[in-house]
Amino acid sequence: MRRLIEAPEIQQRVAQLGRQITDDYRGRPLTVIGVLTGSLVLVSDLIRSIELPLRVGMIRASSYAGRTTTGTDVSLDLNLLPEVRSRDVLIVDDVFDTGRTLTAIVERLKTAEAASVRAAVLLWKDRPREMQWTPDYFGFKIPDVFVVGYGLDYNDEHRSLPYVAALEPGDL
Ligand code: IMP
Ligand code: MG
Repeated sequence: MRRLIEAPEIQQRVAQLGRQITDDYRGRPLTVIGVLTGSLVLVSDLIRSIELPLRVGMIRASSYAGRTTTGTDVSLDLNLLPEVRSRDVLIVDDVFDTGRTLTAIVERLKTAEAASVRAAVLLWKDRPREMQWTPDYFGFKIPDVFVVGYGLDYNDEHRSLPYVAALEPGDL
């Protein structure tokens, strides 16, 4: 593994995001919604950096190869979604890769009559995408490589690493 972002750098950047979100949502009814399982670590650090009263919920999203020519479909499990009507929703995910997951979630939440829907990610991969939509907050832009740590997994492992590392061919 090759370390890309060290733990103190992540802590500093997440604290900065928390301050920015605090300023942007002051006086608003904020609900933070994490996407399981990759956002777990970011959600727990980020909500402690936001100095506002807020609610927290989680949803699950999984992408699977569809039979359509567009490639991948996203299925959402909203069983844990709290009531978001008239609330300002901030979706939190680990990485903006193809962007399909977050686009699907944002579209779905708009139908739940939230007052507003924005998204925050730790990592933004530098790669071409088919959609115009992009997250409102991000921690770091990274090259288009497969990474693990700080919530991100490979085969459900490495999520608990406090840093972000790129997997190398020998790790796969
Ligand atoms: P998207 O829908 O392609 O943007 O992908 C989003 C999901 O794919 C993320 O929430 C991750 O679960 C997973 N993913 C994408 N890239 C990586 C990676 O480099 N490491 C681990 N998981 C990834
Ligand atoms: Mg994920």
